[in-house]
This record gives sequence, C-alpha cells and structure tokens, in this order.
Amino acid sequence: MSKSELLRTAHIDAIAVPRHVAIIMDGNGRWAAARGLPRAEGHRRGVEALRRTVRAAGDLGIQFLTIFSFSAENWSRPSTEIRELMMLLRRFVRHDLAELHSNGVRVRVIGERENLADDIRRLLDEAEQLTKNNDKLVLVVAFNYGARQEIARAAQRLAAAVSAGDLAVSAVTADKLASYLDAPDLPDPDLIIRTSGEIRLSGFLLWQSAHSEFYFTDVLWPAFRKIDFLRAIRSFQQRRRRFGC
Ligand code: FPP
Repeated sequence: MSKSELLRTAHIDAIAVPRHVAIIMDGNGRWAAARGLPRAEGHRRGVEALRRTVRAAGDLGIQFLTIFSFSAENWSRPSTEIRELMMLLRRFVRHDLAELHSNGVRVRVIGERENLADDIRRLLDEAEQLTKNNDKLVLVVAFNYGARQEIARAAQRLAAAVSAGDLAVSAVTADKLASYLDAPDLPDPDLIIRTSGEIRLSGFLLWQSAHSEFYFTDVLWPAFRKIDFLRAIRSFQQRRRRFGC
C-alpha cells in the first residue's frame, strides 16, 4: 500500500502527521507473564514491535521517533534482566544498523553514557557516526536516560560556562538551559505515546514535553502494531494544540 493510500484508509491527514513522536514502550513483562513466558521473551518481542514501529514511522513520514529503551531507574531491576536488556541493545545495533542505514535512518542517542559498558558505548557511537548524514527519519534512542538526570547534566554544563566567565547569570533563560540538554537541536515531541495502560511519564522528556500531546493505550508493547500507531496519530489529529495560548 502506498503512503497516501495507507493514510487515506486510516482516515489520517497526510499534512498533519506529527513531526516528532516519542514512545514509552511499556508492558513487555506483563505480555510475557500473560502467556506463561519469561520476561526476557517479552523484551525480545518488544524489539520486534520496535522494528515494526520504526518502519511504520518511516512509511508515515514522521521525521523524529524517540524511544525509551532503558531508563536510569531500570538499573534497580534484577541483574539477569539488566543483562538481557543490554544484550538486546547490542543485538539490535549489530543486526539492524545496516538496514536502518540503508533506509536512511539517522540514529541519535540521549542519556548518560559514562557508566555503560565500553562495548555498548562504542556501538552507540558507531551507530551515530555511520548514520550521521541520513535524513529520512531520526531514531532517537533514550538509553540509560532519565529527564531529571538530563536536566541536572544541562545545569552542570551551564554552571561550568558561568563559572568560566563564558556566560552571564542574566543570560540564563529557558532557551539557554535547553541548549545544554543532550540533543538540543531536536524539535520537542508533538506526540508522546505510552503503552500498557500506565498513565504517567516516568521521567521521560520532562523538559521537552511541555506542550506535547499524550496518547495512552492499554495495548502491551510487544502487541503494538501499525494500526495502534495509526490510532494514536488519528487521536493526535483530533486535538486542538494551543501551546499555552
Ligand atoms: C518496559 O517493559 C520496557 C522496558 C523496560 C524497556 C523497553 C525495551 C524494549 C522494547 C526492548 C529493548 C530494546 C532495545 C533497543 C534495547 P516492562 O518490563 O517494564 O514491562 P512490565 O511493566 O509489564 O513489567
């Protein structure tokens, strides 16, 4: 199906497709538990849902897709589960990077990289480096990410600039602080989707979501399909965005 047929069938306005969609991919564990499967299987199927979603985002003409892959709080999970999630990231980058690259996807990473394993840091750097000239879709991977930590990192960089005499205290505005965030050149998300029936942000893009629209669905992440994505976009298109006006 061509892009325009797809949008017409789903009653979606091709012009008003959100430029930046961010997703909290939740419910892997519950999806697995409901089937008597180990949580790891839920995460593996979650990666398949991610692949489908990246393809769909490209088909729909979305320009930026941010995914919450591993939160700063996820370190408190059992070590076996953390190992599994790290392994899935390694596999995702190793196996999918070539396809992402050939489809014109640019990979960006936000989050704290310092305390990640060396090989993971290298893989993330390589993914960004290899795809840096692509412009069909920007896939922003939030890994070891927490918005409070991101804002604290920005404040630290900003304070360093002030104490070095490069920035006047009176020049500290919201826009100035934002310019020290992990990826300051990205537009704020237009639409934030969270799966699995949870209705909260859990430290995801707290600064950038000031004017975002939210869409919550009961669908568990491994079961998330293109039709669910289209429903979220249709709901977005029925909103009247006011940006505080
Ligand atoms: C939430 O499910 C999901 C995560 C903790 C991480 C999301 C990870 C993936 C989709 C797979 C990994 C992808 C990459 C690129 C590494 P949950 O375990 O919190 O589910 P639950 O709330 O039902 O227990």
